[in-house]
Amino acid sequence: MSSDETPQEPDLVTAWDYVAPAYADYWSPRFAPFVAEALADFAPPPGPLAVPGAGPGDEALLLAERFGDREVWALEPAERMLQLLTARELPKNLYARSATAREVSQHVSGVGGLVSCFVLQLLPDRAGALADWRRASIPGAEARVLFWPRQLDGAWGQLGAAIEAATGEPRPAWETPLAAELGALGWRLERSQDVVHSIEHRDVEEAWRRLVDACSLQTLLRRAGPEALARCEARWKANSGLEVTPTGVVHRPTARLWILRAE
Ligand SMILES: C[S@@+](CC[C@H](N)C(=O)[O-])C[C@H]1O[C@@H](n2cnc3c(N)ncnc32)[C@H](O)[C@@H]1O
Repeated sequence: MSSDETPQEPDLVTAWDYVAPAYADYWSPRFAPFVAEALADFAPPPGPLAVPGAGPGDEALLLAERFGDREVWALEPAERMLQLLTARELPKNLYARSATAREVSQHVSGVGGLVSCFVLQLLPDRAGALADWRRASIPGAEARVLFWPRQLDGAWGQLGAAIEAATGEPRPAWETPLAAELGALGWRLERSQDVVHSIEHRDVEEAWRRLVDACSLQTLLRRAGPEALARCEARWKANSGLEVTPTGVVHRPTARLWILRAE
């Protein structure tokens, strides 16, 4: 990790380190349809491919198989995530390294395509990451950046409202200012599209437990503490926004895909 990391970044990485196996087990298969749709027509110009925040490695493996004649660089700062990835049967063109999203250019250059799934929304320095991805890339390179925008409706909209109420901190509206900064960071936003799929859980309790033990609420727990988490839990469970079905509960979160071109 480089010396100029913001103070939040080590805590963030530690939280993801803690949830790594449970994330891979529970959330990876639920997020797979979003990733598959985001990459369906991905055809970047020649050059290595970079995957910052690769997690347990699903999208990097998919790319390494599809682009068998290219180097694919899976970069991930959480040690246990990286262990999960390297424990898999890796094709010869897949390289896995420990790196934050702002350290891609330290590992790979001449990048023709970059894929980042569900990482942008959690970074403390999004502009710093995008600037680094541009440094690593050739002009004309394509970046597919899939992220969770601020959800206002549904289960995650209710969850966001519960977090705001529990912490007293408003969720920043970061997407529009970041989009306005893209040109200065060397990227052109070619397309922004929504990607929507259903995610099912056994019940509200299971959904909550998996968010805390296997996903991003682990960060909230570490940042805001157990009392804030308990306030958030009580409010969300009282009005979770999850739809009850005959087999469990379901929601249809909206992910956003930015297709960026390096200028
Ligand atoms: C929601 S997971 C996504 C993992 C994988 N891309 C996927 O779609 O399943 C977020 C990932 O971002 C990683 N991460 C956390 N802080 C990071 C940082 N500063 N730079 C890069 N990745 C980071 C976490 O360790 C975790 O693997």
